[in-house]
Amino acid sequence: MSVRPITPADHPALLALWRRTPGLQLRAEDDFEPFCIYLARNPGLSQLVELDGRIVASLLVGHDGRRGYLQHLAVDEPCRGRGFARALLGEALARLAQLGVDKSHVFVLRDAPQAQAFWEAQADWEGRSDIRVYSTRRGSE
Ligand SMILES: CC(C)(COP(=O)(O)OP(=O)(O)OC[C@H]1O[C@@H](n2cnc3c(N)ncnc32)[C@H](O)[C@@H]1OP(=O)(O)O)[C@@H](O)C(=O)NCCC(=O)NCCS
Repeated sequence: MSVRPITPADHPALLALWRRTPGLQLRAEDDFEPFCIYLARNPGLSQLVELDGRIVASLLVGHDGRRGYLQHLAVDEPCRGRGFARALLGEALARLAQLGVDKSHVFVLRDAPQAQAFWEAQADWEGRSDIRVYSTRRGSE
């Protein structure tokens, strides 16, 4: 098992992983071009796990200089429960800390009980009840 930074060449395999992972929602931002722009904006932060040459887990990691933002944490179903998500989180937070970013957020859908159970089980993470997220998208008004 190896953890390494995601590169543009990983896009097809990652798309396949995300598509077969219930609970992950693909957006226009997951197309190749925006994916590459995201990686270039956040060099070396997003990580994947390879097992026997196959990509089996991913985590997209970005930051705005103050806070880190994690997305697309996914572990292929047959490979769950082996610490891969924990390894990806550890790597991401260590790399963010090297950049001076000590606090990070992840947005979890209310109707994703399995994802919520995972985050509830992470001792260093606190579910927030004091915040509501408001979102907009250009062209939606
Ligand atoms: C959530 C997910 C990434 C966890 O992957 P994983 O490789 O099984 O996680 P790990 O093996 O690294 O587990 C790390 C810790 O979390 C716990 N954990 C893992 N999944 C859990 C779950 N569904 N409920 C409660 N605890 C969980 C493990 O027991 C482990 O704790 P331990 O070290 O004390 O034993 C995986 O189930 C997944 O891809 N789910 C679908 C996509 C998704 O929902 N992603 C999250 C989007 S926000």
